[in-house]
Amino acid sequence: SSKSQPRVLRQCYRCWQLTQPGQLRTFKVTVVGAAGGVGQPLCMLLRLNKLITELVMHDLKECKGVATDISHICTQQDVKSYAGAANLGKAIKCADIVILPAGLPRKPGMQRDQLFDANATVVAKVTQAVAANAPSALFAIITNPVNSLVPMAAEILKQEQAYDPNRLFGVTTLDVVRTEKFVSDYLNVQPQKVKIPVIGGHSGITILPVFSQCKPVFTGEPDCIAAMKKRIQNAGNEVVKAKAGKGSATLSMAFAAARLMNAMLLGLKGEKGPPECVFVESKVTECPFFATPIEFGPKGIAQNLGLPELDDTEKEDLKKLIPELKIAIDAGVKYAKSL
Ligand code: LMR
Repeated sequence: SSKSQPRVLRQCYRCWQLTQPGQLRTFKVTVVGAAGGVGQPLCMLLRLNKLITELVMHDLKECKGVATDISHICTQQDVKSYAGAANLGKAIKCADIVILPAGLPRKPGMQRDQLFDANATVVAKVTQAVAANAPSALFAIITNPVNSLVPMAAEILKQEQAYDPNRLFGVTTLDVVRTEKFVSDYLNVQPQKVKIPVIGGHSGITILPVFSQCKPVFTGEPDCIAAMKKRIQNAGNEVVKAKAGKGSATLSMAFAAARLMNAMLLGLKGEKGPPECVFVESKVTECPFFATPIEFGPKGIAQNLGLPELDDTEKEDLKKLIPELKIAIDAGVKYAKSL
């Protein structure tokens, strides 16, 4: 049957061109949900990335205005825009990276998993479009709940014979960005000087900052470390509360996603970029998906650097987070199987 063969992309002119000797590698990045709260600042930041040759913006609603506006920024890149479900395939066609910030944000008092019903349909549709139009693209999902929707997307890609675990990602970079900022403020050093892995998932206690591996060394009374951990785990809520009904983090999320895009693009280009913590299919713990530091290469994940060394408190925290993360992952897989 047609399902027994892996999908092979029909070659378009662009794909053919890339196979010609002497051609410079070019990169097409498609942002789905480009006119939204995260999409707009993300596109703006991506316009500054010299590795991107073509930036494609897609949104269900008309995004010509945003795309025209952004296209006037004087950096080298083609900017294209598409609107509506019917044009999703065209927008994604042969992209090197598809990044998905579409979906509903939280309101105060909501947990991320309460967005599941609203956002699962969006992510499912986009995942099917990726399978059909760019099965070899790197696919990065920002839409919450990341802990469930990435495993759901994996299942859908499997159903479509287009799954490669090295190319599917849940964006958890904002947890790292926040940790670097909060720790740098505490240590009174520049944020760029702080390196710290944040592992697990992207919600509450599933977010585990590994303070014991922080550089420069992060020390303090246990109470102080616990307070810092709590702030990082609740930082999304801090923004949701401050925005008071007008959504969740958009600007810092766009910054985080743009940073992850750069690391992925360097990898695609064959350059060794910095490792970033990303939520991926994983054998590092009992959880089938888990964020750990990842090195990127020409085919997505080049190496999963695995679980950092943990101190006793972190080991306890890991034990506690695993059942919670597993429940979220199972919910996503179950939903995909019911489709
Ligand atoms: C965040 O961490 O800020 C995002 O996941 C958005 C949210 O709902 O908190």
